[in-house]
Amino acid sequence: MSSSGVLDRIQALRRERGALILAHCYQPAGIQDIADRVGDSLDLSRAAASSPEPVIVFCGVRFMAETAHILAPGKTVLLPDPTAGCPLADSLDMGALRALQEMAGPSSLTVMYVNSPAEAKAASYACCTSANALQVVERAPSNRVVFAPDRNLGEFVSRSLEGRKELLIYQGCCTTHANADLDDLLSSKRDWPDAEVLVHPETPPAFWENADFVLGTGGMVRRIRESAAGRFLIGTERGMIHRLETLYPERSFRVVGSIFCPNMKKVTLEAIERSLATLSPAITLPAELRERALRAVRRMAETG
Ligand code: 13P
Repeated sequence: MSSSGVLDRIQALRRERGALILAHCYQPAGIQDIADRVGDSLDLSRAAASSPEPVIVFCGVRFMAETAHILAPGKTVLLPDPTAGCPLADSLDMGALRALQEMAGPSSLTVMYVNSPAEAKAASYACCTSANALQVVERAPSNRVVFAPDRNLGEFVSRSLEGRKELLIYQGCCTTHANADLDDLLSSKRDWPDAEVLVHPETPPAFWENADFVLGTGGMVRRIRESAAGRFLIGTERGMIHRLETLYPERSFRVVGSIFCPNMKKVTLEAIERSLATLSPAITLPAELRERALRAVRRMAETG
């Protein structure tokens, strides 16, 4: 099957279906290149909710498509590879979350990272992404906040608040980021001593301590636009390098930490064509669960 054949068929189906193709910036280069929009989790969930297209092809992982469905239940949200999950979201244990909430007491509120199952979102005051986690926690009207499920992002928010709020942090992690290779970061810094170092808050604290900025993927895009540096070491999933090279072809980028997410590489052009042709697999949730999760997801979409 020639690549131009599949691209032509995707274009025709996209028009016929009135579809918007969204791609997270960790997606393979060929998927980013055909998307209508490439962005971070926050940007894409807002685009899914506000765009006029009745069909959304979500090139990402399941919690992202679920979040789009929660915000835009009248649209058909397609996840071209239904096995593209998120181990962080899948590892959240509702019993352990409830135990932490009980320990925190009735005056506490829960802020749930969007990388989580819908049931956990429904049990929370607000959701957040890495782009607005600090603002969402700051705005939550309680000084005691349960933060779940990513322990590194929670710890980063806690340190940034400098004691202004007490955080009780669920001990989950994104294994892709949490196992990032520190020696690789340190040797890359020796190779490129002039480079600015940007790392994702899901990486371990030792990464932040060796970085110039700790930012979500959208924050990295904005920081590079403002920066005078010519070279950047990027501590997040390696798909981000294609995004940055596309936006800033005159700068140089190197991924650090050997960070690779196999789930983010599951979507293929053939799978996009198939899902547009069959309008499946469509991601849905039971209506009552969707409605219970909506309040927390809306607070996320409206912050930052
Ligand atoms: P962003 O919110 O920066 O897009 O990150 C998404 C994510 O899943 C990180 O692992």
